[in-house]
Amino acid sequence: MWWWLLGVFSCVLLVVVVIFFLITGQRYKVFSEKCLRPPGPLVTDSRQRDDRLKRGFRVDRIPPSLDAVVIGSGVGGLTAAALLSKAGKRVVVLEQHDQAGGCTHTFQNKGFEFDVGIHYLGQLHENSLLRVALDQITDGKLQFTRLEQHFDTLILGQADQRREYHIHAGKTEMAASLKKQFPGEEEAIDEFMRLMKLASRRTPLIAILKIIPYWLVNFLVRTGLLDLISSVFRLAATNHSEMMSRLTQNKDLHALSAYLFYGVPPKESSFLINALLLHHYKRGAYYPRGGASEFAFHIIPVIQRSGGAVLVRASVQRVLLNQQGKAYGVTVLKGQEEIEVHAPVVISNAGIFNTFQKFLPQHIQDKPEIQSLLGMVRHGMGSFLVFVGLDGTKEELGIVSTNFWMYKDNDLDSLMEQYSSLSREQVLGNIPMMFITFPSAKDPTANIRHPGKSCMTLLTMARYEWFEEWEGTKLGKRGQDYLDLKNGMAQELLDWALTIFPQLRDKVVMVDAATPLTNVHYLGAPRGEMYGAEHNLERFTPETVARTRPQTPISGLYLTGQDVFCNGMAGALHGGLLCASAVLNQILYIDLLTLKTRLKHRQTNHKLT
Ligand SMILES: Cc1cc2nc3c(=O)[nH]c(=O)nc-3n(C[C@H](O)[C@H](O)[C@H](O)COP(=O)(O)OP(=O)(O)OC[C@H]3O[C@@H](n4cnc5c(N)ncnc54)[C@H](O)[C@@H]3O)c2cc1C
Ligand SMILES: *[C@@H]1O[C@H](CO)[C@@H](O)[C@H](O)[C@H]1NC(C)=O
Repeated sequence: MWWWLLGVFSCVLLVVVVIFFLITGQRYKVFSEKCLRPPGPLVTDSRQRDDRLKRGFRVDRIPPSLDAVVIGSGVGGLTAAALLSKAGKRVVVLEQHDQAGGCTHTFQNKGFEFDVGIHYLGQLHENSLLRVALDQITDGKLQFTRLEQHFDTLILGQADQRREYHIHAGKTEMAASLKKQFPGEEEAIDEFMRLMKLASRRTPLIAILKIIPYWLVNFLVRTGLLDLISSVFRLAATNHSEMMSRLTQNKDLHALSAYLFYGVPPKESSFLINALLLHHYKRGAYYPRGGASEFAFHIIPVIQRSGGAVLVRASVQRVLLNQQGKAYGVTVLKGQEEIEVHAPVVISNAGIFNTFQKFLPQHIQDKPEIQSLLGMVRHGMGSFLVFVGLDGTKEELGIVSTNFWMYKDNDLDSLMEQYSSLSREQVLGNIPMMFITFPSAKDPTANIRHPGKSCMTLLTMARYEWFEEWEGTKLGKRGQDYLDLKNGMAQELLDWALTIFPQLRDKVVMVDAATPLTNVHYLGAPRGEMYGAEHNLERFTPETVARTRPQTPISGLYLTGQDVFCNGMAGALHGGLLCASAVLNQILYIDLLTLKTRLKHRQTNHKLT
């Protein structure tokens, strides 16, 4: 009985602390429905796009008397910058690449346009929190197109015993279609869906660990009260394979519950994150209309309006610290020179490792607070991408917006373990998993922008160690051995994809590939990570969740992006929301929820009248 009371007590305590923050924080008016504009026509003129996305760093372009400087222009950096701009702050975003966007940037090759890190998104149905937040930071200008309801196909097993499963979006359709495909597993599927829903509903409680003081987190963990508040904390700390083995013995269903790979075998990953990933698409999968570069294209004007700027070819070298150890700016490499950019707030979107190991001097890195934080996280696995240009429209080629996930075996634990333990010499001929997607088939404007052309992207995971030998070499000058490995992997994936789409064989007009070293170059990912810090089980323990927050041991230095909360466009955006909340000392989620409720009321009124 008294345990139950303690649970209630802890909830009350949480509420009190949150209210305390609410009252003591300064109130900025960040969100409003007035900023929403009807989306204009798609801007296709490349000069106009480059003016915004590729504005180069120059001393005379640094806005005067800055309130904040953001290192990196991924969704995490741009979101934090846009939110601060909406609160009236003047912010400069500094990007090392020659265009803004981070993982959302796109590139052209032989007349084809490819996206890098946006294959499909979820939770964008009308009035979802994510949609409301995106509308706010783009003034309502960003648009999305829905993929087919059957958005993913999972293919398990080798050639002759291949099994195919279809994943459908829809509040009830997802479970219903799975039950049809797994007769006899109805109970397990219902329970999985229940846990998925619980995970999604209660994840805000996990985010609260990043907001409340450490002592309170420690108290809740040590007394065991945390688990009484919600079972979501236990879901987060249970490995996926363990949880699934309690629900069913069906190996294909096990695989299906964790098919969205990110480099960690299910047995070493948190059930929570896998459940959230699939739940993300439950209400539909979406693609940005006009391509992935639309994110940066529509967020940048919001930053500029408050006097800020987004400047590229601005590689940040160091965070400047004053005598008291407080951050007061950064240095940017321009030719041989390091140029100082000053601001009382420094926000890093470059990830936890770059931030602490690259931007700070050794004696600061060595501080126990920083060492213990770094000890909680590991570098995530790298990715390997193949970009394929195809001659023909999607109708001519018979391709669709549905994505394909392929595994040579249904035991994902041993499959992934074996794959990542391969030496470089063993990789070719042994790639066991692949993702296939057709970016152009997901975007109705693709055929207007690049008539008669289609593209296909193939993706698998890859270890940095396989490419480490060429670490210091320059892009395009890494030597024949590197090319042999890269082209060999690309060909292996392409051949595998063509077994599913034989009609594309004579339509391939260009093939290019990206290794973890390519990620180092274009994404500033220190070890070619696909998703920043590894999303292993430890990352979702309450201690690590609480420690990986926007505030850092350095006063004035904050983190944003995927290392703050989790991966994905949505994860990075939440990182930005948490970061701006920390900087403004105002929990922006409350403002956002208020706006969401207002919008919903307005809509129902509209529908009534
Ligand atoms: C291949 C791939 C496929 C993906 N598919 C999907 C998907 O389908 N759906 C989805 O939701 N998510 C997907 N993601 C994940 C998603 O794109 C990312 O999780 C998210 O965009 C990360 O945003 P971020 O802001 O945290 O980091 P990033 O976008 O990585 O931004 C970090 C920025 O910091 C810059 N930077 C680094 N160092 C410096 C420096 N020293 N000076 C200046 N700038 C610096 C980098 O150049 C980069 O622009 C995918 C990712 C990859 C790699
Ligand atoms: C998964 O959890 C179970 C139960 O706690 C444990 O026995 C097993 O060792 C865990 N697996 C891994 C790889 O940590």
